[in-house]
Amino acid sequence: MGENVTQEPSRREQTACLRIFECLCGKGLLSSSLPVPRNLEELEAALEQIQERPYRGGAWGNKERKQAILAVSFGTSFEEARVAAIEAIEKDFAAAFPELPVYRAWTSGMIRRKLLRTEGLAIDGVTEAMERMLRDGVTDVLVQPTHIVNGVENDQMKADALAWQESFRSLTFGTPLLTSQEDCRLVVEAVAEEFSGLKKEEALVLMGHGTTHYANSVYAALDYQFKDSGYPNIHLGTVEAYPSMESLLNQLREARPSRVVLAPFMIVAGDHARNDMAGEEEDSWKHRLEKEGFSVSCVLKGLGEYPAVRQLLVRHLRDAKGQADEL
Ligand code: CO
Repeated sequence: MGENVTQEPSRREQTACLRIFECLCGKGLLSSSLPVPRNLEELEAALEQIQERPYRGGAWGNKERKQAILAVSFGTSFEEARVAAIEAIEKDFAAAFPELPVYRAWTSGMIRRKLLRTEGLAIDGVTEAMERMLRDGVTDVLVQPTHIVNGVENDQMKADALAWQESFRSLTFGTPLLTSQEDCRLVVEAVAEEFSGLKKEEALVLMGHGTTHYANSVYAALDYQFKDSGYPNIHLGTVEAYPSMESLLNQLREARPSRVVLAPFMIVAGDHARNDMAGEEEDSWKHRLEKEGFSVSCVLKGLGEYPAVRQLLVRHLRDAKGQADEL
């Protein structure tokens, strides 16, 4: 009875591992020069390598390093929301790494153009921020998105930043808010804590954004996780994808809460929160819930205003810095 006897992987396990490995190599996520995984453990070890490795740029020799943080957000045209959520996150980044300059980029061209037109406020896009850092002599960039999921916005942001890969010594990406199981658990707890005054007979309905990207599955998973974590009266839906208001209504008709609290599950309480969620139009979530006979109150507070959510983003940034510092 040797203690070191590893169990032979089944034929099926081997085949499954090989197929997943080939698929990931095909997508360029793993290098086909890696040893072929023969069981789930070896596959997991290979998957660890996908974890946001730093991207190496051109040749740098002994040039002095200058590291900087780039905080990338979608953006908002609401000033209060910008200050309360986006600037608060950037301040937390600066407080956690006082030796590093923090740059800002917003990915929404529409919002950036609108702010420039209406308020004369110029905010960099990713490309402009990369140019700015280059001018300032930055050599190593830590990119930390405030995006919630690994969706379209985050993919595009990475592609835009990586176009500058050769101009920098390294680019390291921190992960979006909901990336690991632990992230999901911490966000569930952060929301539950924020609404700890919620009574059993009441319900909290959260409005997420939603995406056509496969990353959208995280919303339904998190809705399930709230229930599984002992919060049966917390529901998460999305404004643009699944689960939609129809799914939420099915749950609420059954539960018949005495009151429904509506809150955005987005970094900022911006346009979607003010209009699609809390607006007076026929099809706003507030209006639709009231039409069903529920008494509704709205909380216009973005996730970026929750200290625990900001700290989770700081943690992701710290992980990215750890990887960058090993170079
Ligand atoms: Co939208």
